[in-house]
Amino acid sequence: MTEEDPIESAEALIASGRAEEAARALQARLAAGRGGLLARLTLIKALLASGDNKTALIEAREAVSLNPGVALAVLALGEALLAADALPTAIAELQRALRLDPDLVRARELIAAAWLKAGEPDKALENLQALENPPAEMLAACEAIKASPRSDPGYVRHLFDQFSADYDERMIGQLAYAAPQILFDLASLVMPGRMGASAKAGATIKKELSVLDLGCGTGLAGAVFKPLAARLDGVDLSPAMIEKARARGIYGDLKVADLETALAATGPRYDLILAADTLVYLGDLGQVFEGARNRLSSNGYFLFTVEKSEGTGFELGPKRRWRHGEAYLRELATRSGFDMAGLVAAVPRHEANQPVDGFAVALVR
Ligand SMILES: C[S@@+](CC[C@H](N)C(=O)[O-])C[C@H]1O[C@@H](n2cnc3c(N)ncnc32)[C@H](O)[C@@H]1O
Repeated sequence: MTEEDPIESAEALIASGRAEEAARALQARLAAGRGGLLARLTLIKALLASGDNKTALIEAREAVSLNPGVALAVLALGEALLAADALPTAIAELQRALRLDPDLVRARELIAAAWLKAGEPDKALENLQALENPPAEMLAACEAIKASPRSDPGYVRHLFDQFSADYDERMIGQLAYAAPQILFDLASLVMPGRMGASAKAGATIKKELSVLDLGCGTGLAGAVFKPLAARLDGVDLSPAMIEKARARGIYGDLKVADLETALAATGPRYDLILAADTLVYLGDLGQVFEGARNRLSSNGYFLFTVEKSEGTGFELGPKRRWRHGEAYLRELATRSGFDMAGLVAAVPRHEANQPVDGFAVALVR
């Protein structure tokens, strides 16, 4: 890097895949008191390019505190927050950058990128349409989310990361959430031999099943089934929900992953796979049924709740939760090689003090 053009040299290093080197040179320069805002902004770019999102965020905060009214500094902070997945604050800072400089095309692009990451294609499109040349790949990504027969993983992750702090109180208090107990009662009916005498009050409970909890959330269903489980694993898209589940200390393996991907991977087979109020974020259940069947041991059970559609397929409801029809569930179960061990009407939760109609389903391999 030449002394004459430190920024240009750093940009060249970033462009040639040597962002870490660029970051080190700029850090040294700033530490020696020889860099201004441009050097810090380039440093943030280099840090982001090298994947050091944490230091980029620290530098971006410093840039804004030194230059509070400068649109480019606020833009850099928005970009660093976006890289750190802090979506609401990223969007707020990017909107502030745009207010400071309404011609800042990059801010609008990044706002659209943040909405896309949050699985909100309509909000992303609103911002893309305000651009003269909206990036074609971003437009295509919006259309793909809108056409998908399931909820976008980004949307689910963001929703439950936000919800995690008071999830248990709200579910049990305001929403009269009952899916875990409904599934436990269904298990007692369809697989009493596998539950020992545990369904009967006061009886000794045998911990003998290996159980996988799909969309385990904070572990409300896991806690209900734990007394039966010699092994209890969980998978969820939301890192914040997984942290809450981990704090319960009842799970073995806990993974942040999409359940369709997790089921398709090789891994242990389970006696029981649960999905309590999780499949409402998936419309087409084909992959889930296939994956669950592959990961169940012979005579293993797949127990889940869904919300009820009056139709024969599946549909997206007004609360952005999918509903499934009885005919669809029965037909798909048969097609996926399951026997229907039980399908009962159930009310997994309330919404605005009204019961939400659903089904509790038990499939056996
Ligand atoms: C309403 S909560 C239910 C949580 C838990 N089963 C319970 O009984 O409290 C739905 C959970 O499913 C997770 N989820 C939804 N779709 C998912 C997917 N495709 N892969 C993994 N987790 C998913 C969400 O992150 C959320 O934690």
